[in-house]
Amino acid sequence: MSEAVARGLEGVNVTATKLCRIDGLKGELIYSGYNIYDLAEKSTFEEVAFLLWNLRLPSKTELAALEKELRAERPLSDLNERVLREIVGQIRPMRALEIAVIIAGALDSKSSDLTNVQLKTTAALLTARMPTVLATYHRLRQGLDPIAPRDDLGHSANFLWMLTGREPNALESRVFDVAMILHAEHEMNASTFSALVTASTLSDMYSATASAIGTLKGPLHGGANEAVYKTVEAIGVEANIPTHVEGMLGRGERVMGIGHRVYKTTDPRAIILEKLGHQLAETSPDRKYFDLSLKLRDYLARKLEGKPLYPNVDFFSASVYKMLGIPSDLYTPIFAMSRITGWTAHMLEQYADNRLVRPNALYEGADNRAYVPVEKR
Ligand code: ACO
Repeated sequence: MSEAVARGLEGVNVTATKLCRIDGLKGELIYSGYNIYDLAEKSTFEEVAFLLWNLRLPSKTELAALEKELRAERPLSDLNERVLREIVGQIRPMRALEIAVIIAGALDSKSSDLTNVQLKTTAALLTARMPTVLATYHRLRQGLDPIAPRDDLGHSANFLWMLTGREPNALESRVFDVAMILHAEHEMNASTFSALVTASTLSDMYSATASAIGTLKGPLHGGANEAVYKTVEAIGVEANIPTHVEGMLGRGERVMGIGHRVYKTTDPRAIILEKLGHQLAETSPDRKYFDLSLKLRDYLARKLEGKPLYPNVDFFSASVYKMLGIPSDLYTPIFAMSRITGWTAHMLEQYADNRLVRPNALYEGADNRAYVPVEKR
């Protein structure tokens, strides 16, 4: 392809943002001025959501108000639950999320109100609703009744409760909440870009979110966490690692959860998730996949030495979620359930200073062809 084409838009600044800065060489990730290590240690997902939507941390009163708003928006609409009951056996969970977002948009008479205040209300609604969609989907597909959200639990603990029917302990809640914080925002990735393209046409936040969910689904992006799980599952035991990895690389396949367009060192989110994994593993009956992931990581470090290929966020999220008892096909939807905050925050920036995204394509096709009627071809 011509060098005049920025393939994959690599290295191209498509917009300016106050939301997130990444230094891929140093392995730094900053949300609106706050280092991800600090946020992972000290904040909550709700606080990070406020930060992304307002570019500052909330006061105590503001945080309580947002938590209340999120709790109020948790229940699914009757229509959404009816549709899920009807088709749960025929769709994968990312599709369930897409459908839920479209239904929420269809039922919102203010969906085309693009004022900042209304957009923030929509962002909170989408953030609150997604966990209920996924938990309801998971319960229904097992032939179980959905579990109603609980007002006395925070965003993350409530999701685990609705999903499993068991109240998570303090460590499980905290680990999941940190995983949510880590996935909330990541500058200009593929799904965020597709959300911005849709928003730039002044289409609404629901449609832009549906675009982003469709983009996140792919295995080169958010779909990688489920793919990591499948890799580790296929490897099965430590002794199989060399043969399995050699086979994959020999066939020109990529090892999922490894490599990143921006990070040329270990993704800081993988470092934090590994630490959380060790904490969970101390008491988890289900630590096998985490232990195998550690061995796989060590083997790959030796095998890929000298190449800028290191674990990314998806590498350890799979085995951490496994220890939390979450089924693997929900890993990517859970990514969306967190990233909705970053997507909507970028949309707020886009709507506030919009310019239609309309790039060019370099034409490389034929010219000056004479049209021949179909019966003469
Ligand atoms: N396993 C093996 N080799 C790899 C991998 C991998 N995971 N990733 C990149 N490479 C190799 C490529 O084959 C290529 O080798 P070559 O130069 O000999 O042809 C070289 O590294 C550079 O690869 P590119 O495709 O140019 O790198 P790019 O920046 O496009 O890749 C990507 C980034 C898509 C994430 C890639 O590393 C990948 O496919 N990783 C696996 C999927 C994954 O984990 N995705 C999640 C990313 S994080 C996220 O989206 C949340």
